[in-house]
Amino acid sequence: MREAGVTVLTVGVFAWSRIEPRPGARDFGWLDRALDLLHASGLRAFLATPTASPPPWLGHLRPETLPVDADGRRLGYGSRNQFCPSAPAYREHALALVEDLAARYASHPALAAWHAGNELGQVCWCDQSAAHFRRWLRARYGDLDALNEAWGTAVWSQGYGDWDEVLPPRRAPYVVNPAQRLDYRRFSSDALLEHYRAERAILRRHAPDVPVTTNLVHLWTVVDQWAFAAETDVVALDLYGDPEDPAAHVDTALGCDVARSLGGGRPWVLMEQAAGAVSWRTRNLPKRPGQVRLWSLQAVARGADAVCFFQWRASRAGAEKFHSAMLPHAGPGARVHREVAALGADLARLRAVAGARLDARVAIVLDWHSWWALEQAGHPRQDLRLADQLAAFYRPLWEAGIAVDFAHPEGDLARYALVVAPNLYLVTDAGAANLAARAAGGGTLLMGFFSGVVDEADRVRWPPAFRNVLGISMEEFHPLAEDEKLWCVSDALGRFEAGFWAEHLHAESAQAIAVIEAGDLAGVPAVLRNAHGRGAAWYVATRPEPAAMAALTRLVCAEAGVAAAAPAPPGVEAVRRGDVLFLLNHGEGEAVVALDGPHLDLLSGAARDGAVTLGRFGAAALRPERRLP
Ligand code: GAL
Ligand code: ZN
Repeated sequence: MREAGVTVLTVGVFAWSRIEPRPGARDFGWLDRALDLLHASGLRAFLATPTASPPPWLGHLRPETLPVDADGRRLGYGSRNQFCPSAPAYREHALALVEDLAARYASHPALAAWHAGNELGQVCWCDQSAAHFRRWLRARYGDLDALNEAWGTAVWSQGYGDWDEVLPPRRAPYVVNPAQRLDYRRFSSDALLEHYRAERAILRRHAPDVPVTTNLVHLWTVVDQWAFAAETDVVALDLYGDPEDPAAHVDTALGCDVARSLGGGRPWVLMEQAAGAVSWRTRNLPKRPGQVRLWSLQAVARGADAVCFFQWRASRAGAEKFHSAMLPHAGPGARVHREVAALGADLARLRAVAGARLDARVAIVLDWHSWWALEQAGHPRQDLRLADQLAAFYRPLWEAGIAVDFAHPEGDLARYALVVAPNLYLVTDAGAANLAARAAGGGTLLMGFFSGVVDEADRVRWPPAFRNVLGISMEEFHPLAEDEKLWCVSDALGRFEAGFWAEHLHAESAQAIAVIEAGDLAGVPAVLRNAHGRGAAWYVATRPEPAAMAALTRLVCAEAGVAAAAPAPPGVEAVRRGDVLFLLNHGEGEAVVALDGPHLDLLSGAARDGAVTLGRFGAAALRPERRLP
């Protein structure tokens, strides 16, 4: 590990049955030795609470700690995550263990931070969860009248007369009440957060100065990551870019930007990535030579102060024995290990970057509650995915080299010249007012289709919330058939193809930027711009082909006055963190990037002036140098 430049390790995730092999027993000997050895070797630990994987004895003695699915089937042990977050017996055993772990290691010199649980995301539909859900609903609604109103229970005879009748949205004969399902997602996220907080309270009591975090998963929908991030001392992200996806580096860039934004711009920790292949996709391709370095540097460029991996050493047994590792089955001579060790040296050269911030003037609005509501049944189309919409708006910004933050719809948007809302299906009154205010105050708003359509209880807003700011009126949604294309004509964007979605809408105060050429919607605007207060709002009522999205992005960015971090050729990612300009070549060929003055490449130690040449998957971290007189 020292040779590879490792400085910190996550220790003890899933180690419950090793620490507590029998109910109430404690075996800390092995962990003492491990942490002492780390300390003696100058390494530090993110010490995990092992509560994400209760031992078989707990499920055996207390089956009520095991989760139940929406069909009412109790899940077994023999895997991991076999717990119900609402089960008092789980809570009791987990917290007793956390108490003893915290007491034992709170002042261990190797302890760098606590890692509570792992990828908290277990959802349960058992009776204990039902009771917990009812407590949560009482706190939210006060009485059943308010609940009946919010859930629209007059539809299909769902009116509740007694709290005991209220259940999780279990399997039912036909579509389950969407507001009930939405509230269950909120509740499930809160139940996990409640458990995380209970662990954190113990850890903090024993070690008030040691940071506590838990790892969030890239674009995972199970928990509200804004709510979780607010309760962590440092945001930690698990990010597994798919080497088979030619645009994976754009997706990972987005993940890094989300992680940074969740922490309000503070440096974050890349807690897990793979050194090579994972073992849970249909096909698990290794990373290509150079990619592990390039993608790790991308995380640093986008605000990470730590780059970690799952896992140090490949195992011989278990469900993930073919998951790559920093030290693979093939041993330290293998390519993967050599690349990882070289990365360790690179990261040491980037120490000066630690703590530095990025300055973004564009924000993309992201809200888990809207996401949950968007992807429920009974909508104009069932395959509308927020991730696709995020990618459609993020990608052209990435290609243009423009720094992007993510923001909560009710967050402070004042510093953003451009606010992008790819698909804000659900919006609160406060969120709608916040976005409109940014446009009125001189910002530019860029909004995608099917936005502002429902309130926080998933009840239709008509007209949709952004009618005034967008200057449009809506008639109906018009999803397109598989492979159906619409041609749009536009002076500003040229003639382009669009697909997936269209809307029958009318421009009121808005000006049509692009119009549908033919068919039932001939003449209907597909892209509009509305002057609003001191700013403007743009609306994209369809999914334009990528070249048209790029043209639209250029137009909107020019209007908002936002520009690239540095001019870079296609495939080269340019990101400025503090005063360091990162150039990352994701392309297969060599790339030459012009520089605006003398720079020092922190990675190679070489002085660069005029231009820098990057090989395939090459990178530079350039600090401007003052020209000597
Ligand atoms: C994560 C998990 C790790 C490991 C990894 C494999 O979800 O936290 O423990 O399973 O995936 O890709
Ligand atoms: Zn449960």
